[in-house]
Amino acid sequence: MLKNKTIILGITGGIAAYKAADLASKLTQAGAKVEVIMTEAAMKFITPLTLRNITHRPVVTDMFELASEWSVEHVALAEAADAIIVAPATANTIARLAAGIADDMLGTVVLATKAPVVIAPAMNDLMYSNKVTQENITKLKARGFSFIEPGYGRLASGKMGKGRLPDTPEIIAAIEAALGQKKDLSGKHVVVTAGGTREPIDPVRHIGNRSSGKMGYALAEAARDRGAKVTLISANVSLDAPADVTLVKAPTALEMKKEVEKAVKKSDVLIMAAAVADYQMEIAAGNKIKKESGKNLTLNLVKTPDILGEVKGNFIKVGFAAESENLVANAKKKLTGKKLDLIIANDITKTDSGFDADTNRVVIIDKKGKTEELPLMSKREVADKILDKVKGLL
Ligand code: CTP
Repeated sequence: MLKNKTIILGITGGIAAYKAADLASKLTQAGAKVEVIMTEAAMKFITPLTLRNITHRPVVTDMFELASEWSVEHVALAEAADAIIVAPATANTIARLAAGIADDMLGTVVLATKAPVVIAPAMNDLMYSNKVTQENITKLKARGFSFIEPGYGRLASGKMGKGRLPDTPEIIAAIEAALGQKKDLSGKHVVVTAGGTREPIDPVRHIGNRSSGKMGYALAEAARDRGAKVTLISANVSLDAPADVTLVKAPTALEMKKEVEKAVKKSDVLIMAAAVADYQMEIAAGNKIKKESGKNLTLNLVKTPDILGEVKGNFIKVGFAAESENLVANAKKKLTGKKLDLIIANDITKTDSGFDADTNRVVIIDKKGKTEELPLMSKREVADKILDKVKGLL
């Protein structure tokens, strides 16, 4: 897969920079054309000469260097790339990339490229777990960058911690995964709903639920990465808006219904990952409800419309079923009741799947009743599995 591929290897200034030589060597041996870009700090740890001798290519170190093959048209390098790998990526480089700073060659190329970018962070464990670094990583992930988790082990400080550059085979596997990113949904329009609706009780309170929106956002990002045009109809979440996705806010069930009906008119797929409230106030109070001592409060609730059950049109309909018992049987009832093509059943009794978790354990059930039970995996991996099925139905 790496043969004849142009891989840009960005090396930044951390102690693990020396390991980038091994990566460059393995990539070159696999037949890739490796273009190395080193930041100024990287050159304090390893010399460009080493990389040049390994890759048999000039090493780019300075955007304004006249002798460099790429110096004039530095953006040409961004265009030539099949994939970019930044290894090791320091906290500083991650922050710079997250901010879109382009005052050196690596920043410029990453900002200008349309190729997939893979980042392999390596740093002190405290710097890695720092909120700022984590926020920068989240921001870049939302823009479609892939990250390889640093390994646990002895760090440069002598302490044990999470911050080691992963081994070369793991980095190469991530590059191959990025290169293999299927564009099998290009030309398709996918509508995804996400998050939990909030039905107002009065101006202060609402009926809500525990949905974080992570599954729906992962689906939107995965569909985007596979080339689809994506409309993400989002209820209440505290997640960053994914890049290159049309984001529509729909905080209540009624607003979501309106937005879904509008969006599906030109869509090929609707995936309802949102947790829509089943009930809303018959009439929400205009003013804050005051407590009255010694008295119970009764709220008069009425059903919300069943968006998925009622929406009509010529598109693939995918629903979710969050269940705490009889997972498959309950999900099958929803599949037939709502006339769905697929239903994704998830067991919400476990802490590592369902609400707010980054991982999920689901069963995918199709119209014919065929079930596929998936092991625990990240929500992004689950998203791709669902899209594989959707692709087969299109
Ligand atoms: N859904 C919907 N409109 C609603 C409620 C749910 O479109 N008013 C969608 C959800 O987005 C999800 C699927 O329907 O894709 C879930 O089906 P549903 O039977 O409503 O699930 P629950 O609300 O969990 O049902 P129950 O509480 O009976 O288990």
